Amino acid sequence: MRARMRGKTRLKPRADRAALPPAFSAGVALLGVVAALTACAGQSHVRSGVGQSLPHTISGVVSNAVGPVAGAIVQVQGTPNQTTTRSDGAFTLHGQGLGGNRVVTVTAWAEDHFVGWVSLDPANPVWQAGGAGVQITLKPLYTVDNTAYKWFTFEGVSGSASCGICHREYEEWQADAHAQSAVNPRFITMYRGTNVAGQPGQPTRLTAHGQALPPDPSQPYYGPGFRLDNPDRAGNCATCHTPVAANTPNDKNCAWSGCHTSATAERAQTANGLNLQGIMPVGLMGIGEEGVACEFCHKVGNVILDPATKLPYPDMPGILSMKLYRPPEGQQLFFGTLVDVSRRVSYLPLQSQSAFCAPCHFGVIGGVVGNGMVSGGALVYNSYGEWLNSAWSDPQTGKTCQNCHMPAADTVYTVFPEKGGIQRDYVTYHQHTMRGVSDLTLMWSAVTLTSTATRQGDALQVNVQVTNDKTGHNVPTDQPMRSVMLVVEVSGPEGRPVSLQRGPTLPDWTGNYAGQPGRAFAQVLRDEWTGETPTAAMWRDTTVVEDTRLAPFAASASNFTFALPAGRPATVKVRLIYRRAFQQLAQQKGWNDPDITMAEQVIAVEQ
Ligand code: HEC
Ligand code: HEC
Ligand code: HEC
Ligand code: HEC
Ligand code: HEC
Repeated sequence: MRARMRGKTRLKPRADRAALPPAFSAGVALLGVVAALTACAGQSHVRSGVGQSLPHTISGVVSNAVGPVAGAIVQVQGTPNQTTTRSDGAFTLHGQGLGGNRVVTVTAWAEDHFVGWVSLDPANPVWQAGGAGVQITLKPLYTVDNTAYKWFTFEGVSGSASCGICHREYEEWQADAHAQSAVNPRFITMYRGTNVAGQPGQPTRLTAHGQALPPDPSQPYYGPGFRLDNPDRAGNCATCHTPVAANTPNDKNCAWSGCHTSATAERAQTANGLNLQGIMPVGLMGIGEEGVACEFCHKVGNVILDPATKLPYPDMPGILSMKLYRPPEGQQLFFGTLVDVSRRVSYLPLQSQSAFCAPCHFGVIGGVVGNGMVSGGALVYNSYGEWLNSAWSDPQTGKTCQNCHMPAADTVYTVFPEKGGIQRDYVTYHQHTMRGVSDLTLMWSAVTLTSTATRQGDALQVNVQVTNDKTGHNVPTDQPMRSVMLVVEVSGPEGRPVSLQRGPTLPDWTGNYAGQPGRAFAQVLRDEWTGETPTAAMWRDTTVVEDTRLAPFAASASNFTFALPAGRPATVKVRLIYRRAFQQLAQQKGWNDPDITMAEQVIAVEQ
């Protein structure tokens, strides 16, 4: 059942099967839903007097303050029984979930509105006259993002743990890298320029023109750091890495790459009504420390994309390209994937689309600051653009980011049933571990590796093909410190290495693999100030000098000739290795992440 096809559920909002969750009558009042025909919305599984049943057919009208709402989705909660209002706002529902002797909740939703609902009690005498006259009034979403909003707390618990009191996703999210993004030591050390022990690196030496010089070899150096280069600027890292800090007051009024671009600041103002730039992504407390938290993602109601490119505007990373709906005092709103929830929620089709992830998974970073403007900058994060540009973005035959990274969860509820969650057995709920490179099953099914070994006289011909047939973007993608290495080793009897005669070898920056037969896949940036290549200091003036990553559906073929005398046996070992950060950088920082083997093949070459 959980293996139901993706896509199907995305086309239509879903329904559920069970009965009314308790204790949401307060929500009814808040939503301004007219519970016209019911007295009792607060109890579940109400059994009415003998002979009192709901009609098998009900009809009514969905309206808002302005008038009838056409195209609203009306549903018998707990069932897939669903219809859409006609141009006059009228609807008729027949069949599943109706006709029984229990209280039934009927929900309605239309774009830009909260889900509205009404509870129908069979005991209400109005039913004796037939099932007509059900009225559901929809409340429009508020339009102003309240930057003074205090993030959700429940029973004294704040942050994502508060969601975990009722929602099963909490444990999954704890394992998600998004949950760690504000405290991730790799991020912090790159931002600060320290190593993992917190030792500060040397301040960047600048030329008279404000360009950085290479580090002083006589001083300790722990790799690059945004703050070493920009001791007075907060930078834009917070817009993606610590978005929950959004309501931290921003007195600096800085633009995306520092305090220099007024144009961007203005655009940020109009887009979001707030200006996040200038937030330091370190030293945060409370929910700010949670990185990409539950409530943050579920308060995003829209994303702003450039209609010409369909991509985020380059100078509006992360939160600057997102429309947040933080409610006014006393109200609440979460966006979700269900249309029949009797809570202060709204259904958001965007949540199931890749565009939802675009603002943070597309980023132009760095550039030269001058004349009050930032120019240049390298497109370093682009998993969204790579996906968009590929066959994966085909709505019929493709897959979304969520399809691969948030696959169907093996569950029938989001809220624990004892907390009022409704069990829906034909709805796809989504895993929130956001499986990534630390998920080996994902890594092992990312690409296809095929190798052959053929004798040719005193030579062994090894042909290797790597095809990115299963990853929705480049391999590797996003962070430019990533690399994937194809490593080919041929050994003779007693494991003695057989030498390469012809074929590609791994570049110096692969460190321990440098010079070995193989090929590297990476986006290599050059620091235009110091010439360092590859550099991870992506915020500097950098140029992409080489991009050997495997685009979706691209294949890379490599041919190697080894000197293997006829008649001598050998073993060919072909490996594809993912490395989170260039080796030298990892050593400077003191990061200690093991390489990940994505694929491996061993071929025995007989005598
Ligand atoms: C990175 C953003 C992000 C974070 C963080 C996040 N979610 Fe979600 N959530 C989503 C997306 C996207 C979907 C919809 C997936 C789809 O439809 O393909 C979703 C779906 C849901 C749903 C609807 C049911 C379902 O499974 O589809 C609930 C409820 C939910 N999330 C709760 C939570 C809770 C609780 C947390 C924290 C413990 C959380 N989310 C953290 C993005 C996020
Ligand atoms: C608010 C910005 C933001 C949004 C929205 C966002 N991400 Fe991310 N994502 C990040 C950041 C920052 C990281 C890096 C976290 C870290 O490693 O510290 C990340 C990391 C990831 C990873 C890597 C996980 C790993 O361990 O390798 C995956 C996969 C991912 N995101 C997928 C998604 C998908 C899919 C969506 C949309 C449903 C999404 N993200 C939405 C900011 C975001
Ligand atoms: C446009 C959004 C965005 C901006 C702006 C941004 N990042 Fe990121 N960052 C991400 C995403 C998404 C990932 C995860 C991508 C991946 O796993 O390859 C990430 C990953 C990283 C990582 C790797 C973390 C790990 O665990 O391997 C580091 C380090 C990092 N970012 C540093 C920075 C710094 C420093 C800045 C500011 C100069 C910055 N980022 C600005 C989106 C952003
Ligand atoms: C007191 C319990 C409780 C707490 C705490 C709570 N929720 Fe919920 N939430 C619910 C219930 C009940 C529903 C309706 C579930 C159903 O119909 O199955 C719901 C529904 C939702 C939905 C709509 C699901 C959909 O697919 O449309 C989202 C999104 C959501 N919650 C997010 C959150 C987030 C994020 C937090 C923490 C900030 C949170 N909730 C805290 C009880 C809770
Ligand atoms: C067809 C499946 C598929 C789709 C669609 C997909 N991904 Fe991935 N993603 C993968 C696989 C497999 C990996 C692991 C291999 C790798 O890291 O390249 C991965 C890795 C990642 C990573 C880890 C980064 C890294 O260091 O390589 C991020 C971040 C990510 N995906 C984000 C996204 C976003 C954002 C989208 C949508 C725009 C998306 N993915 C769409 C399959 C997919």
